[in-house]
Amino acid sequence: MSLGIFDSGVGGLTVFREIARLLPNQDLIYLGDTARLPYGSKSPETILRYTLECAEFLLSKKIKLLVVACHTASSLALEYLQKELPIPVFGMLRPGVELIRESALQKVALLGTEATLSSKAYQKILSQECPQIEIFKVACPLFVPLVEEGMHLHPLSIQTAEYYLAPLREKSIQAALLACTHYPLLTDAIQQSIGPSVCLLDPSERCAQNVKLALQNEHLLEPASKSPQYQFYTTDYPDRFARLAKQFFGMPLSLDINKLELNKNLNYS
Ligand code: DGL
Repeated sequence: MSLGIFDSGVGGLTVFREIARLLPNQDLIYLGDTARLPYGSKSPETILRYTLECAEFLLSKKIKLLVVACHTASSLALEYLQKELPIPVFGMLRPGVELIRESALQKVALLGTEATLSSKAYQKILSQECPQIEIFKVACPLFVPLVEEGMHLHPLSIQTAEYYLAPLREKSIQAALLACTHYPLLTDAIQQSIGPSVCLLDPSERCAQNVKLALQNEHLLEPASKSPQYQFYTTDYPDRFARLAKQFFGMPLSLDINKLELNKNLNYS
């Protein structure tokens, strides 16, 4: 059985890559809801609805575990999915909080979408688990479109990072959590603007480790002899998705990507 992974776009591939690395025998199905991104500027109700539709599609593929590779969807819909779905559901908040907690830092920036930050989902857990930490929230709404346009190395990305992050330089922060799965693709621009001494925390590897552990505990790991199959779906522009997947992750340009329309009577085949 496969694992299902989804995000609004290519950002979740940063998590896909780590899962594929740590679970090299596992079949994976990835869905990028490219027709409806960005999620980060949508209302909580809309994000919940989109997330449920993505989950519903992946469930129709008989997955054994779901990874919500999107901090925005995790912030707004993870609790609901974990309660309602008949399979284990993993999100991005827990791995992010674990990295912060283990780092024993005092001043941490939380970089995410507007919806993630205004949901206060991170702030709620952090105030319970790491009450000593001072959090500096910065919403960076232009980062997602820059990545989706393949402009992560363009000077505009550096200018945008400078615009959002330069004010942090006088706050003496020690680390910044990349609380959006698109942001690791802008690591260079972010590091340059936030300052070389600030440690950038990317929770995607920890997410993959947590998934591996859960599969191990449930005896659901695939045998080492199995070669994995990967399937990709997008809700719009499969060609652009393939181009970005090649540019960011070296995946073959001829990547076979299926285009689907979500919620068309929820009758997926
Ligand atoms: N990659 C997503 C996240 O982790 C959201 C990007 C968006 O669609 O705004 O939050």
